[in-house]
Amino acid sequence: MARSKSRDKKQKKTLASKADKFDCYQQSVQSPDHEVEFFEQAYRDAFKRKPYTLREDFCGTFAVCCEWVSSNPKRTAVGVDLCAETLQWGRDNNLAQLTEKQQQRIRLLNQDVRKRNRPQVDILAAQNFSFWIFKTRSEVIDYFRIARSNLQANGIMIMDMMGGSECYEEDRVDKRTIKKGKKGFKYHWDQARFNPVTADVTFYIHFKFSDGSKMNRAFEYHWRFWTIPEIREMLNEAGFSECHVYWEQEDEDGEDTGEWERSEDAPSNPSWVNYIVAIK
Ligand SMILES: C[S@@+](CC[C@H](N)C(=O)[O-])C[C@H]1O[C@@H](n2cnc3c(N)ncnc32)[C@H](O)[C@@H]1O
Repeated sequence: MARSKSRDKKQKKTLASKADKFDCYQQSVQSPDHEVEFFEQAYRDAFKRKPYTLREDFCGTFAVCCEWVSSNPKRTAVGVDLCAETLQWGRDNNLAQLTEKQQQRIRLLNQDVRKRNRPQVDILAAQNFSFWIFKTRSEVIDYFRIARSNLQANGIMIMDMMGGSECYEEDRVDKRTIKKGKKGFKYHWDQARFNPVTADVTFYIHFKFSDGSKMNRAFEYHWRFWTIPEIREMLNEAGFSECHVYWEQEDEDGEDTGEWERSEDAPSNPSWVNYIVAIK
């Protein structure tokens, strides 16, 4: 029996069903080249020399490790993540893009970040707010103590933080076009829930495609919304000797410049992202 046209139409796959969530994530959220540039600056500020060894905790598809080993032939990286599926996607799609020599300078550990490993490294990075998964002071301090022990004597830990009044608005969805045109897509950051009593938050990432289809809740996060002073106090308790907040500088028109400077005072922008750098 001949199939009706409307049935054919129904069976046509949507762009959302064909899309790869990790690829969309990397295009929307990550800028590994900027991260590596910042890591170099932060390390130079602390020790006046180039860093060579990196540990990327919560590495996911370890795009930053790949950028790190590509940036210098002496550099090595260790990526640590609990999720075997995510690490495998990184092997198939990110690692596979590197030369054999570069690949050999990356080690992947499918384990909890709260584990001591050797050799110790120059820089330990925990990006995209991932350590907010630890919801109590004792869990965070425990993680920071272990992270500190994974650093060599002249080592730094780098984290990013977000905040500002808009971040506490429930059901707020920030939308960005990542790619224009027929094959394009939009990134939606959905602040679904903020509980002011516990500071527990639920965030989702959705992707919306040019045919109107949507990949709903491609990623979801259930975190504690920590503040900068809380993190600095906990870094101090975990034994770090210094802790610096790097704030992105603005030009005369209030536009971000891409320049990061140590700051003890900053404007109360409605939405900000910054780095915290702790020195062992
Ligand atoms: C928000 S993603 C961050 C991915 C990547 N670092 C980035 O910057 O986009 C969080 C990652 O942390 C991993 N993860 C969560 N808890 C972990 C733990 N205790 N130990 C190791 N990895 C963990 C998850 O599997 C996930 O890949």
